[in-house]
Amino acid sequence: MISLADAARQVLLTRDPMEKSLLTAEFAQQWRGGIITETGRVDLPDRPGRPDKPELHSPARMPKRGKGGLKGRIGLLHALAHIELNAIDLAWDIAARFPDENMPRDFYDDWVQIADDEAKHFRMLTARLGELGACYGDLPAHDGLWQSSMETAYDLLARLAVVPMVFEARGLDATPPTVERLIASGDTESAEILRLIAAEEIAHVAAGRKYYEMMCDKRGLPYYTTWHALLRKHLRGPLRPPFNDAARYDAGMPPDYYQDYVLELPDENDA
Ligand SMILES: [Fe+2]
Ligand SMILES: [Fe+2]
Repeated sequence: MISLADAARQVLLTRDPMEKSLLTAEFAQQWRGGIITETGRVDLPDRPGRPDKPELHSPARMPKRGKGGLKGRIGLLHALAHIELNAIDLAWDIAARFPDENMPRDFYDDWVQIADDEAKHFRMLTARLGELGACYGDLPAHDGLWQSSMETAYDLLARLAVVPMVFEARGLDATPPTVERLIASGDTESAEILRLIAAEEIAHVAAGRKYYEMMCDKRGLPYYTTWHALLRKHLRGPLRPPFNDAARYDAGMPPDYYQDYVLELPDENDA
């Protein structure tokens, strides 16, 4: 019988995105159904399996995509599908990379559920791309999310501080204006998909925050200043307002977390 870590490794190594997504759903069902019971321990790859297309560019070399028209909407959905594909791998990675932390059963339940959600989000977005006459792989994508996430492979606390609490929380901020733009352009179907995804992402940020605070408690560290120190170490830029305070609040991340951090950064105009 395979362990959860074996399952994680198998998903990570899978190159075909749809296969990765469906394998995730299958393993999540096996975990929930008690068919996979051991959390286990394996060596994880530093890079997940990726298909030949899309071509991966460095973030700086990504061609600018327009915001309007069908082309702009396809570009947006393609970029979001790519983020969700990375999110599948990141959820499995966090579930299997830190066995020495002896996290509780809830931790594994939550990250398996998150991987399952991300896999579903990927399928929703690629199905919508299909309706618009495109598919995942048609456009270039960038590898920045995976690379910056792997900088925190040395410590679960850093991983939690950066991936769910910064990257996923940014998604909460970015979605409402994007939904508005889609509605304004008449694409209510895509807007509805983004709205459904955003509602589920709140729980992902909440899980990140919950285990981040659990780790801080374990190590006797204060929540806010520790988070700021980790952000200073791992982020190349500041946290950028506007923040979706309501969604962040629902995720258990009150402004106490980010307000001071934004304030203490130098004004960009002063630089
Ligand atoms: Fe997602
Ligand atoms: Fe997520």
